[in-house]
Amino acid sequence: MSYHIRTKEDYDKNYLHSVERKNQFWEEIAKEFTWFQPWKKLMDCNMREAKFNWFQGAKTNISFNCIDRHLNSIGDQTAIIFEPNLPSEKAIHISYNELHQKVCKMANLLIDMGIGKGDRVALYLPMIPELAVSVLACARIGAIHSVIFAGFSSGALAARINDASCKMVITADGSFRGNKTIDLKGIVDEALLECPCVESVLVAERTMTQVRMKNNRDFFLAPLLEKASTNHEAVKMDAEDPLFILYTSGSTGKPKGMVHSTAGYMVYTAYTFNNVFAYEKNDIYWCTADIGWITGHSYIVYGPLLNGATTIMFEGVPSYPNPGRFWEIVEKFKVNQFYTAPTAIRSLAKESIDYVNKYDLSSLKVIGTVGEPINEEAWQWYHKNIGKEKCPIVDTWWQTETGGILISPLPHISPQIPTFATNPLPGIEPVLMDENGLELNENNTVGKLCIKEPWPSIARTIWGDHKRYIETYFSAFPGYYFTGDGAKRNDNGMYRITGRVDDVIIVSGHNLGTAPIEDAINEHPNVAESAIVGFPHDIKGNALYGFVTLKEGAEKAVQLESEINALISEKIGPIAKLDRIQFTSGLPKTRSGKIMRRILRKIAEGDFSNFGDISTLLNPEVVEEIKNGKK
Ligand code: WTA
Repeated sequence: MSYHIRTKEDYDKNYLHSVERKNQFWEEIAKEFTWFQPWKKLMDCNMREAKFNWFQGAKTNISFNCIDRHLNSIGDQTAIIFEPNLPSEKAIHISYNELHQKVCKMANLLIDMGIGKGDRVALYLPMIPELAVSVLACARIGAIHSVIFAGFSSGALAARINDASCKMVITADGSFRGNKTIDLKGIVDEALLECPCVESVLVAERTMTQVRMKNNRDFFLAPLLEKASTNHEAVKMDAEDPLFILYTSGSTGKPKGMVHSTAGYMVYTAYTFNNVFAYEKNDIYWCTADIGWITGHSYIVYGPLLNGATTIMFEGVPSYPNPGRFWEIVEKFKVNQFYTAPTAIRSLAKESIDYVNKYDLSSLKVIGTVGEPINEEAWQWYHKNIGKEKCPIVDTWWQTETGGILISPLPHISPQIPTFATNPLPGIEPVLMDENGLELNENNTVGKLCIKEPWPSIARTIWGDHKRYIETYFSAFPGYYFTGDGAKRNDNGMYRITGRVDDVIIVSGHNLGTAPIEDAINEHPNVAESAIVGFPHDIKGNALYGFVTLKEGAEKAVQLESEINALISEKIGPIAKLDRIQFTSGLPKTRSGKIMRRILRKIAEGDFSNFGDISTLLNPEVVEEIKNGKK
């Protein structure tokens, strides 16, 4: 067996081996890495109790494996290219040697500030090198990083900091995104009014805007780093020590802090990066995601660096200063693998093709997508104009919870079928389930997507709430991991992901739970109740439609819509704003009081054809009113 899959025969052989001799398969893959102590037992897992132990008894350090392991062979090679928001600002190339020095300094600084193994550190940073360095420094000393996307509001930030009792926050004065400057430090200051657990704040200077610094709590990063030593020995971590927490939306108001652990995550992200992108030595790889999401964790930082790759970090947005920005960067660095989201593709496909054709994209070998189903039109545009009909597209399906890519075409191995994520990677056994919890074994069928056997990078728990972890993912189909997605399997056994089957809506590739948005709206003094559903949108994939009922006697003022969106921005962040708001006298409810979202979804989509049986509703008359008032 080999770590590299480059032919159809490799894939078939490896897949079979991974299923039939699972332990041996993963042991061979794991040999690629440096272990300070070998494992005694490869794995000990129980899906029903959501207990996952991989590489039991082993000691390693993922930051060491990302950096130190490569220093003798490729120390001078660029590890990270930082491309700033503004094209006129110079890019920064950080070699593996330099990255080592930066990460060791940061590790020593964290220790000086009283951070140790197991402590939680919140990272609320723009896409600047300090973010990757902080991630790797936390991992190096065994502190658990919790990266919080820098587009979240102060309320969302505070909730996440408190949930994990973070001791420290690393942030920046501000961030540049397109032509906007965002006052990150101000948002942190506001959040910290509610976070007694935070003892210190480190502030990177990026925008050079004026910030308030609280005495004995807030410190500028650069002068402290300057004084820190470049000698640091990576902490020997147990295979199952938590590596990071990353929050994802759930069906209740509280976000779920998914916990990933050290060794299994390391082995799986490295292995999948190498094979899904067919990475070859000296390739330049670019993933346009933000490190605030799982894609950035696994496939900007960890996966690429574990493979000794050169990974690009882009600070800006696709449309600034013009919609040719992505393609300009591809030409500038001769990017070989390009990985982005369908929403970005759709928005760029609407622009003049001259923005693409101006640039030389001939360096591209593999192009990928992630985050939501890609529609056929976007797939064809990507294939023709970016891949020039020669680059395979890898439509990678996975989740925050899965840690790494589970289902994806492999370049030059899998057939190219638009909108299909095709086949599972070795070690992954997807199944489709029917409503009764039975496996659907025949092809050409649709069902709920579950995974049958554990894999190394499955999340270990929800921070502080293992019961919720079991309930959310392991109880709908006992003995299986339930993904929350629906899927189709075609005649050839290939998978197409059809979308969420739960209360999560994916807007521009961001997972949004309906409950936290409804909670935010309901805080408006005039609002009695609300329900959020998704409806199809050309660029965002889905957009949000809010049905809102007002309190008795409350006045529907003209500014109410903007007040509601302002509340959502404040509580969650601008990504969760509603595209449409409809005020109604009531929401369709079952006799037990449950909102029938199915009906609201159909109305929002403009499909009035068949609501099913509405006679069981407590208030069927309201359906007609909502239909007539549709926006
Ligand atoms: C959706 C992102 C279709 C899916 C890595 C999943 C996809 C959710 C694809 C996880 C894809 C992700 N095709 N749908 N290639 N990739 N999804 O946690 O609904 O941000 O459950 O992880 O995105 O989103 P998350």
